[in-house]
Amino acid sequence: MPSGSTSSYAIAQGDLGASRLELLTQLTWQYSLRFLRKQISLEGKQCLEPGCGTGAISAHLLKLLGNEGRLTAFDIDPASIAQAKQNIPDPRAEFKIQNLSAITPDDSEKYDIIYCRFILEHIPDPVDVIHRLRSLLKAGGLLIAEDIDTRGFFCSPDNEYFQQFAELVGSAISVRGGNPRLGPRLPAIFQDAGFIDLDVEVVLKLIIYGCPFSFISFFSFLFLSFLKQH
Ligand SMILES: C[S@@+](CC[C@H](N)C(=O)[O-])C[C@H]1O[C@@H](n2cnc3c(N)ncnc32)[C@H](O)[C@@H]1O
Repeated sequence: MPSGSTSSYAIAQGDLGASRLELLTQLTWQYSLRFLRKQISLEGKQCLEPGCGTGAISAHLLKLLGNEGRLTAFDIDPASIAQAKQNIPDPRAEFKIQNLSAITPDDSEKYDIIYCRFILEHIPDPVDVIHRLRSLLKAGGLLIAEDIDTRGFFCSPDNEYFQQFAELVGSAISVRGGNPRLGPRLPAIFQDAGFIDLDVEVVLKLIIYGCPFSFISFFSFLFLSFLKQH
């Protein structure tokens, strides 16, 4: 049975998804890192990473967490978690199988940072999940989310195949109950969930290729919120 059958997730997971996630990391991690560093030092922090896939980002987070930091990372896909455990045998990291939509608010573990990267767009109930993630944060903790808006996928000169690709990505996510345009909605959803001190950054990642000069853009939406003690 293919590992993708375990969830409503629209794209290949496990072994098939690993190289795609590596490429995504290569293309976008520098922007995520810049954003994280602007906001906070992760040194010594307790971090939760929902939707970690095969651990491409987990490995980077562990470098930032230092010797005293801890990472709990989970994914709905058992094959991805098996691969993450194999790739990252680090005593500071715990990888587990968990559905983000089923996360419980009364979980005893509390975190300094919850980092949701390219996952909320895939789940049918992001508003509800964001409310529940808030209860897993320590006082003053941060929820950081990065999500796409497929309207930001474009290329120049126009190319009908690229256009079809962009539309297919969007409809594959929508058909499974996700929202391929979630990114720009995040600030309002976070505010509604009671987060304060919001910070938003928009990244247009351009891939320049060919002669004459051509480019492809992938739009990534970065959003951060501080939750202060009430
Ligand atoms: C686009 S990948 C992002 C992986 C990683 N966060 C990154 O930035 O490279 C989305 C991941 O979310 C996982 N996922 C999808 N729906 C999920 C759910 N309901 N609960 C937990 N993980 C889920 C998928 O299996 C996949 O590994």
